[in-house]
Amino acid sequence: MEYALFAIIAYLLGSIPSGLIIGKYGYDTDIREHGSGNLGGTNTFRVLGIKAGLIVTSADILKGTLATALPLLFGAEVITLIIGIFAVIGHMYPIFAGFKGGKAVATSGGVILGVNPIIFFILLATFFLALYISKYVSLSSMISGVVGIVATLIVRDFGLTIVITLFTLFVIYRHRSNIKRIMNKTEPKITWM
Ligand code: G3P
Repeated sequence: MEYALFAIIAYLLGSIPSGLIIGKYGYDTDIREHGSGNLGGTNTFRVLGIKAGLIVTSADILKGTLATALPLLFGAEVITLIIGIFAVIGHMYPIFAGFKGGKAVATSGGVILGVNPIIFFILLATFFLALYISKYVSLSSMISGVVGIVATLIVRDFGLTIVITLFTLFVIYRHRSNIKRIMNKTEPKITWM
């Protein structure tokens, strides 16, 4: 019973549209009307700058990590991971923002941070290495997911392998438009690295 409650709490936590809140109340800007139109940290960096981007990315990671905190106190890692999935679903389809949310990257990272910080830091290092080479945030996000699957297979954390595979499928699905733009060579590259 408490697991169903944790899943609902996780979904509601994930649904908090930090990009929308920071944009509207801090900058009088709806980031859904600018840049890629995405509610995530990358588009916040793009539209509102470094400070807002860092706040939104950190808040989106925190949503996933917090969602894992409660069930971790009560249950096994595998239950925690399942609860974490609901936070990511909330982030992608937030009840508080018309079910149009982010692309699953930061909140998935937050869930992984909550259950296995070493894998999280491997994902983070992979992300920045891929970003340094490709200059595409979207591509780097997808590559990190794939490397995460391999890393969990190597350390034989098979529960996490299943969940990172699911997160990576979410990330790829939510980046369909980015994938098209990468193939058309119209996806914006970062310029600061
Ligand atoms: O985390 C989302 C990022 O990978 C891409 O975002 O705004 O460039 O579509 P965006």
